Amino acid sequence: MVSYKEILASNALINDSTAPRIAVFVGGTSGIGKFTIKALVATGTTVKIYLVGRKNSKERTQAFIEELHALNPKASVIWTEAEVALLADVRRVCDIIKSNESRVDLLFLTAGYAPFGTRKETAEGHEVVQALEYYSRMLFILRLLPLLGESGLARVVSVLGGGLETTWLIDLDDWDLKRPGNFKVYRARLQYLAMNTITLDKLARENPNVTFIHSWPGSVNTGNVRRGWDANSIIGGTFSRVFEFLTWLAGFSGDESGQRHLFEITSAAFGGRGVPWIGKAGITTTEQLAGGLFLVNYKCDYTLNAKVVAWLREKGQEKLWEHTQELLGPYF
Ligand SMILES: NC(=O)c1ccc[n+]([C@@H]2O[C@H](COP(=O)([O-])OP(=O)(O)OC[C@H]3O[C@@H](n4cnc5c(N)ncnc54)[C@H](OP(=O)(O)O)[C@@H]3O)[C@@H](O)[C@H]2O)c1
Repeated sequence: MVSYKEILASNALINDSTAPRIAVFVGGTSGIGKFTIKALVATGTTVKIYLVGRKNSKERTQAFIEELHALNPKASVIWTEAEVALLADVRRVCDIIKSNESRVDLLFLTAGYAPFGTRKETAEGHEVVQALEYYSRMLFILRLLPLLGESGLARVVSVLGGGLETTWLIDLDDWDLKRPGNFKVYRARLQYLAMNTITLDKLARENPNVTFIHSWPGSVNTGNVRRGWDANSIIGGTFSRVFEFLTWLAGFSGDESGQRHLFEITSAAFGGRGVPWIGKAGITTTEQLAGGLFLVNYKCDYTLNAKVVAWLREKGQEKLWEHTQELLGPYF
């Protein structure tokens, strides 16, 4: 485990040459994304942040943006409106960023939640949480890869469940869990996080100039557990209260989660670039010397989950890539 003291010590060394200059946060309107933006801005470095969020969150996010500008006058936080569950809107917003920037140093992806209730689909026909946690995240990466490639420091962080991949309950023949009876919250959780690892592992191998991290944040009391339930669900209300109490007892505070993710986006522990790290260096699933995919848990330790990842790679990577390309093709 990387202790919190070590995390804070490393983060205290962040400067303009080790911090991302241009960052895109998708899901930074609340929770882990928001805590991480605050931790990054508080370092006092020069940073431009595209804060991508939906229209409904614009008003409450304005106060947060003002707070960030007061915290660090060298930070520029740009509200960038998009319905990120819709792939057409992801393409639109990526085009805006591409027309304004010649490089991106950090792409930080946190939109999503556990789909406890009944299956709900976006106007484009995708299960909402799968759209947020997989298709939209992969489309952001694919469309911004040319700008990430120009960075020299580039990192992509997808916050979900890195290291929790399993071989059981994964359906390699029904990626979208559309077959009757196949959509269940526990299966969706495992399926979407495995899909993240499988595709990030491929993209990491093909893009050694970018460091990829699939982070599992542990328990952080963000209200995330309340999101996925059907409206007025009594079971949902009770479950959420119990879960939040347990998270309050044993989970991470928002501040600590923000600092731990700041470490993940700046420390040389992951890929050798960034704030020098004298502890044990992380190892990638792809055993690459440059770039690669790190599966990083809530203690900021890397895990290889080697047997499972090898199995997923062998049985699922080609298939999933074909499926992903087919589905994202119209939005490339
Ligand atoms: N917190 C934990 O303990 C924990 C543990 C394991 C995994 N995770 C996963 O890690 C990720 C980040 O978690 P978090 O706790 O930071 O989540 P959070 O605080 O609930 O934030 C989720 C983000 O997703 C956005 N979002 C939710 N529904 C959306 C929709 N339909 N369309 C567009 N955007 C939507 C939210 O936007 P608004 O602000 O506009 O609502 C928010 O920015 C999630 O995928 C979560 O499932 C969290």
